[in-house]
Amino acid sequence: MGPVPSPICANKRKGADMKVLVTGATGFLGKYVIEELVEQGYEVRAFGRNQKAGQALQGPSVEFFAGDFSQEEDIFAACEGVDAVVHAGALSTIWGPWEQFYRANVLGTKRVLEACRHFGIKRLVYISSPSIYAAARDQLDIKETDAPKENELNFYIKSKLQAERVISQYPQVPSVILRPRGLFGIGDTSIFPRVLRLSQQFAIPLIKNGQQLMDMTCVENAALAVRLALEMPQAHGQVYNITNGEPHSFKDLLDQALEGLQVRKRYVKLPAGLLAFLAQSFESIYRFFRIKKEPPLTLYTYYLMRYSQTLDISAAVRDLGYRPRLTISEGIAKYVQNYRNN
Ligand SMILES: NC(=O)c1ccc[n+]([C@@H]2O[C@H](COP(=O)([O-])OP(=O)(O)OC[C@H]3O[C@@H](n4cnc5c(N)ncnc54)[C@H](OP(=O)(O)O)[C@@H]3O)[C@@H](O)[C@H]2O)c1
Repeated sequence: MGPVPSPICANKRKGADMKVLVTGATGFLGKYVIEELVEQGYEVRAFGRNQKAGQALQGPSVEFFAGDFSQEEDIFAACEGVDAVVHAGALSTIWGPWEQFYRANVLGTKRVLEACRHFGIKRLVYISSPSIYAAARDQLDIKETDAPKENELNFYIKSKLQAERVISQYPQVPSVILRPRGLFGIGDTSIFPRVLRLSQQFAIPLIKNGQQLMDMTCVENAALAVRLALEMPQAHGQVYNITNGEPHSFKDLLDQALEGLQVRKRYVKLPAGLLAFLAQSFESIYRFFRIKKEPPLTLYTYYLMRYSQTLDISAAVRDLGYRPRLTISEGIAKYVQNYRNN
């Protein structure tokens, strides 16, 4: 890594005079990052392809810049005149052809880094994913250095690992990598909606009575970590796990969410071997017939249900001063309140 830069906004109101490009602005995390930055006085250039979602973000401190970050001209034009970049944009799903993951997550990240290097961007915060740790075993207190060199459980994971490697190939760009786990909150289109659907249409499968530990993150806390990663000089060149730091059992989380949502709790206890067999079979069939839709069960989802996985966030606490603002229960209550009001 290159020389350690000075804090990007020392001795000022946090974001005064700072302009930050946020990719993935039209997505789930991106919106919260923008909110967090604007609250602290930053100017934001919100980047994404979805014009409608982008225009809805615009405000006194937020301008929308429509573009595709895997297109050199788009991302170069967007980076001109900004001080820092948060690269939260990605193809963030667990099923699909490698070419799409490669283009969005690997090539796209390379283009972002080229633009950052060209314009001498003071800091890049890259949003990676702890899914890269996924393995067929319980893993507690995973440290950032425990990341495997390769993991091809799915193309998303493979692409996120490759993207991290791309970051290390640009030492001239002062970068920070964050690995936030299991984001949830209002606007989540993934975790809670899936659970709800499953519970309403069928039942939620439990292995070993759902006692496996899960380490989730309120999306507001992840957005806070992103801002801290932009601001803290000691974060330069580092990688940080981000969670709420309060692992709960799978079943406990489900109970809290489903009770709050007043949805009938429907669980079905299934043997791990059966679910592993189903996941493997679905994946093989879907791959063979090139089915674009995500299979009803994938190996990745099976691993999430089967094994405990918790992350050590002490590095983020120490270097970034990261202290989660919302507890898991508060995050769930907020989600539930919004769900009931809508
Ligand atoms: N959600 C989680 O639990 C979780 C956990 C760990 C890590 N992460 C990481 O956190 C980041 C944000 O995730 P998220 O949940 O907010 O995902 P998301 O809601 O799917 O948002 C991703 C955004 O990326 C944008 N994007 C994708 N390809 C693009 C391209 N070629 N050019 C421009 N924009 C592009 C999309 O914007 P347009 O539709 O406007 O193109 C989309 O809104 C991702 O890097 C993801 O890997 C997420």
